[in-house]
Amino acid sequence: MKKVVWGNILCNDPIAKDVYKMQIQSSEMGPVKAGQFVNIYLEDKSMLLPRPLSICDAEEDSITIVYRIAGKGTRELSAYQAMNQIRVSTPLGNGYFIEGTALGGQIDDYSGKTVVVAGGGIGVPPMVLLARRLKEKGAEVLAAVGFQEEPFLIEELKQYCREVHVATDRGTCGFHGNAVQMIKEKRIDADEYFSCGPKVMLKALSDFCTEKRIHCQVSLEERMGCGYGACVGCTCKIKVKTNQGMEIQQKGVCKHGPVFFGEEVVWDE
Ligand SMILES: Cc1cc2nc3c(=O)[nH]c(=O)nc-3n(C[C@H](O)[C@H](O)[C@H](O)COP(=O)(O)OP(=O)(O)OC[C@H]3O[C@@H](n4cnc5c(N)ncnc54)[C@H](O)[C@@H]3O)c2cc1C
Ligand code: FES
Repeated sequence: MKKVVWGNILCNDPIAKDVYKMQIQSSEMGPVKAGQFVNIYLEDKSMLLPRPLSICDAEEDSITIVYRIAGKGTRELSAYQAMNQIRVSTPLGNGYFIEGTALGGQIDDYSGKTVVVAGGGIGVPPMVLLARRLKEKGAEVLAAVGFQEEPFLIEELKQYCREVHVATDRGTCGFHGNAVQMIKEKRIDADEYFSCGPKVMLKALSDFCTEKRIHCQVSLEERMGCGYGACVGCTCKIKVKTNQGMEIQQKGVCKHGPVFFGEEVVWDE
């Protein structure tokens, strides 16, 4: 059940150009799954809608978010200081399917498996907690992360990943190109791929995995309104198996996602 709580900002520091890392402490946050996000409520009441941000890492009573200044809301956020208080939702969405069953199979044993976490730009933050959880489940984790120009969260990923491959669009650092081009050209092979980033990148990874007949889970960062299923502001088309066969249904990304299997998503619209 969604709850909005007050949290204490422990730090809010720049880590790259226009990119900030904020740690929020709250004893009411509850358990966090990799791939979940929180809604951040801003002080400026002209911004009625909360801003959704992925959980980058979590401890027992705190979460870390990493955000890029995109507009008015994230600019306001960047001005908050340690010791300020902030209104934040408890974790939202379903996160990555790394435990229990999905697509008819048991998926919580990753021992002996190699997985790739692939992030692009502001899709990199949720890869940190995901890599951590996959490593805890026995996986050999490789990261393939792409940035426009300046990489961030590399040291955090190195804590959980055997290899961290970096790509930049402008070739300023690492591989010249995007994360999916790098995966293909450097042959960064895995038993399963997990991703978050721009839709074009997610589609490219999903096509690549479909060709190879391996699973890929993608986190769709659609524009959102309420963030918890009340406004239908974030729907996307998802293929669903029913008794009548395969159907295409409109699903709210905030409630049914943000993570889906690549093969479930209707990409071409
Ligand atoms: C589930 C989810 C997780 C997210 N996680 C992160 C994260 O970890 N770090 C991060 O920096 N951002 C993340 N985002 C995007 C973030 O929510 C937006 O950048 C933010 O809401 C913009 O608010 P603003 O008031 O600063 O900008 P606005 O003034 O609202 O918008 C500024 C610009 O950003 C674009 N924009 C707004 N929302 C989105 C979106 N969802 N996707 C793409 N473009 C958008 C607008 O079209 C506009 O061009 C996430 C979004 C979703 C839905
Ligand atoms: S954002 Fe309101 S239903 Fe998803």
